[in-house]
Amino acid sequence: MPAQLIDGKALSLRLRADIARRAAVLAKRGTTPGLAVILVGDNPASQVYVRNKVKACEDAGIRSVLERYDADLTEAALLARVAALNADPTVHGILVQLPLPAQIDSHKVIGAISPAKDVDGFHVASAGALMVGANGFKPCTPYGCMQMLASIGMQDLRGKHAVVIGRSNIVGKPMALMLLAANATVTVCHSGTADLGALTRQADIVVAAVGKAGVLTADMVKPGAVVIDVGMNRDAAGRLCGDVDFDGVRQVAGWITPVPGGVGPMTITMLLMNTLQSAEQRT
Ligand code: GUN
Repeated sequence: MPAQLIDGKALSLRLRADIARRAAVLAKRGTTPGLAVILVGDNPASQVYVRNKVKACEDAGIRSVLERYDADLTEAALLARVAALNADPTVHGILVQLPLPAQIDSHKVIGAISPAKDVDGFHVASAGALMVGANGFKPCTPYGCMQMLASIGMQDLRGKHAVVIGRSNIVGKPMALMLLAANATVTVCHSGTADLGALTRQADIVVAAVGKAGVLTADMVKPGAVVIDVGMNRDAAGRLCGDVDFDGVRQVAGWITPVPGGVGPMTITMLLMNTLQSAEQRT
């Protein structure tokens, strides 16, 4: 029997309906949740991501302000904008779209965002809070993956072995910490791991976040495993695809997330959730 789909679009719709309801409650009390989005330059992928984020805010009753700057913006000018948004009481979340142009140190800019408004969860204070189990904003993509697991009854992962493929600061590393916090046993691999299949075949949960199509194939998956595909790639025909060989793996896995319609919508949903929570905390 082929794997059941974890439908990120449907789960997002349910969560966004709840976010919109809670945003309306806040607005009635005089506080409309607000997200500031900063886009520097004209990276085509970033433009699409930012457009989708702004549209999702609108639909959920979250006020969004998009600030666009030319690619030659100075670091000092960007830091000044971040400082002004930190001080603006109508802004509850600040998102600086990455990557930034080469003349700007992204660590410095992310570090300048107030941790109280770091709805991307990228600040070292947010990363540190996740590390030590304190309160802080969680990075949206791994947070969304955890929600997808919860949606199929997998909240407590005691006794489960999760294999994460990928070690980025915004997905792989925080994903591993969230899985550990949910009591899973966690192995973190990457594209250079020797005999990756020997590890993934032991996994009850595989999270693929490398950014390369075909990283996980059917022979690498234990029958019945849960497969979460964070990848966003284009196949030879130009179609959107993930890191997982979907057609092959779905014949073996128990659950699988599609691309598109899986993790992608959940990332934006968790951004809305973080922004709402930021506004709720200060109301
Ligand atoms: N670039 C790619 N993904 C992200 C994201 O989730 N947040 C930001 N700020 N930039 C990104």
